[in-house]
Amino acid sequence: MDCLRISGGVPLRGRVAVSGSKNAALPIMAASILASGPVSLARVPDLADVNTLALLLGYLGVEVKRGANSQMRIETVDATPIKADYELVRRMRASFCVLGPLLARRGRAVVSLPGGCKIGTRPVDLHLAGLAALGASIRIEHGYVIAEAKRLRGAQIDLCGPCGPTVTGTANVMCAATLARGKTVITSAAVEPEVVDLGRFLISLGANISGLGTSVIEIVGVEQLAASDYTIIADRIEAGTLLIAAAITGGEISVEGVVVEHMTAVLNALEESGCHILRGHQQITLLATARPRPVHICAQPYPGIPTDLQAQFMALVSLANGQSTIRDQVFPERFMQVAELNRLGARIERSGSTAIVRGVRRLSGATVTACDLRASAALVLAGLAAQRETIVRRLYHLDRGYERLDLKLARLGANVTRQVEADALDMAELGSVPALPVV
Ligand code: UD1
Repeated sequence: MDCLRISGGVPLRGRVAVSGSKNAALPIMAASILASGPVSLARVPDLADVNTLALLLGYLGVEVKRGANSQMRIETVDATPIKADYELVRRMRASFCVLGPLLARRGRAVVSLPGGCKIGTRPVDLHLAGLAALGASIRIEHGYVIAEAKRLRGAQIDLCGPCGPTVTGTANVMCAATLARGKTVITSAAVEPEVVDLGRFLISLGANISGLGTSVIEIVGVEQLAASDYTIIADRIEAGTLLIAAAITGGEISVEGVVVEHMTAVLNALEESGCHILRGHQQITLLATARPRPVHICAQPYPGIPTDLQAQFMALVSLANGQSTIRDQVFPERFMQVAELNRLGARIERSGSTAIVRGVRRLSGATVTACDLRASAALVLAGLAAQRETIVRRLYHLDRGYERLDLKLARLGANVTRQVEADALDMAELGSVPALPVV
């Protein structure tokens, strides 16, 4: 297992290209099950999560080949397998996105329920209710969802849960509806750019979809979807993480290849914290001037500040000149980073569903352990600003969703080195076997 050794205190400077979006790439890869011809994708990020899904697609008779320059070719070679195993789905919840495509294209799907998750309860009831409304018979047996339908039929479906619309639920139901008989209307649909990107990909295959980016999506089913060449959008979460890295180190960077409009709420919050932002064509420049000002952040569905950037903002305001508050309306329990940030000298307290962050003048390096993807990004950012050395352990969490973040940070001047974790070596020397990572 790798860890990241960071010598903090270097302001980041320079330009950095943003990779393709993880949260767009995963459902698009899963949706390729629907295509009757080959799919060529460009700008697919090289991530552990993408590799996990590629492995699952392989078991499902879908050949996935990586090409040069973030290209990927996907083609169904055997349309009979229908089972997504627990071992792969538990590793990555987004594997559940194969459910709708399998059901619509192959008439039957047996997909493991994803199970528990560190960022809070993450039910899939809306996915299942949506597919049932399309006429699927659904039952749960031995931890698996078994969904069957000769041919789905269009229906009116509302996808609002207690914390807002579901992103991957919208993906699953939208995919399934593309091949249903008649018209489907999804209300309270997720409006995230990644859902829009999936919809555009489906349209490129021949699907009939309107209303993308609004809360009402209409899909008129077609008989068959064909082949496609498609380019995935930029990762707004990676872009935001890099910008916050520049802000927390008092640096100046430009992120390139972004969709600037996808970043509005994030850029507004960074401006509120005192950063200067220049919005260009597919480019954002951030100039950090002084110690951050306190801000009040509430993570919300798009176009609000994404929950996937909440932890990184918490790292930033831990150094603010005053008291900030952070709330997460999407995953109200998503505060795993608090204890580890406090080990770096932050002063963060939870009060119900709000984290109160009393800004400190400096953080001090320590060994910290990442426990999920975005929490680990927050620890890396804090380490970049902390005095002396920080070691972020269990880097595989970061590698699930960031394409070599350490290399990108190093190119911007950060003093970071990836190493094999010392404790794993120690244990091997002692003759014991280190525990397998649980993702
Ligand atoms: C996706 C993203 C994840 C992001 C999240 C919120 C991918 C691969 N993952 O996750 O990075 O943090 O959106 O933007 O795109 N809910 C229900 N019932 C359901 C489904 C969800 O009540 O059937 C609730 C959830 O508990 C949560 C809220 O709806 O409170 C949003 O979850 P959802 O949008 O489904 O998150 P994911 O799609 O799993």
